Amino acid sequence: MKISRLIKESSLPTLDSELLLSCVLQKSKEWLFTNPDFGLSNELLEKFNELQKKRREGVSIAALVGSKEFFGLEFKVNENVLIPRPETEILVKEVLKIQPKSLLDVGTGSGCVAISVKKNLSNCEVWASDISPTALKVAQKNSQKLGVKIEFIESDLLEKTSREFEIIVANLPYVPQNSVEIEAGVKKFEPSLALFSGSDGLDLIRKLLIQISKLSQKPKFVLLEFSGDEQTEVLKIFTSKIFPNSKIEILLDLAGIPRVLKLQS
Ligand SMILES: C[S@@+](CC[C@H](N)C(=O)[O-])C[C@H]1O[C@@H](n2cnc3c(N)ncnc32)[C@H](O)[C@@H]1O
Repeated sequence: MKISRLIKESSLPTLDSELLLSCVLQKSKEWLFTNPDFGLSNELLEKFNELQKKRREGVSIAALVGSKEFFGLEFKVNENVLIPRPETEILVKEVLKIQPKSLLDVGTGSGCVAISVKKNLSNCEVWASDISPTALKVAQKNSQKLGVKIEFIESDLLEKTSREFEIIVANLPYVPQNSVEIEAGVKKFEPSLALFSGSDGLDLIRKLLIQISKLSQKPKFVLLEFSGDEQTEVLKIFTSKIFPNSKIEILLDLAGIPRVLKLQS
């Protein structure tokens, strides 16, 4: 069947079917526009139909095509990592304002934060950790593909890290365990290790903050992603107790939602 007819007759939004066809044919979207009469073989048609079925079940386009753009770079993704979200770019932007000489990204997933920082700050020594060895494999592949040198460590939060860092950043899981707000497709197809963290979503963030407070050489800055007003209140109270002498700021994302806790000692 011809490309133009497949797009017209697909029950998916046009952009989705174009992206899936590009993936199946290994061609750009522009190529599709200039070759509307190209006919798919039965094998490719079967592949396209399979992807359409999964998309209708709620799998994200990024997971289906195996890549996602973040901070202007293309990251490979698979079922072992969270698909990078645009709101996380705020962490990278903030780091670039500070221009640190060393950074640790805790819970690096696809490596999107650590790699984007290193791409833009070549003099910064970047370390990235994750508890998941399969996520670290994806991050390592992305760092090779994008040509940056990052030190990767498999670690439960700071357990295996010993050196001093000027900044610690983290987008750890922060979805409350029984959240009803999370989209079905996200819950079903993204790793739960990357999503959930206790009843209010803040267990891992609290644990990390406690670990940081006990370091003999504390970082000058800590940037932690979270979400919303409720978590803001809990985090402000908790953080001011264990870091009484630090400046605490809450940064908003582009939608005006509280998104990052910034701690400066
Ligand atoms: C929300 S995802 C974020 C991934 C990536 N930083 C991003 O922004 O796309 C959280 C990541 O934290 C990792 N993680 C979960 N528990 C952890 C722990 N105890 N120590 C280190 N990493 C952890 C997960 O494996 C996952 O890759």
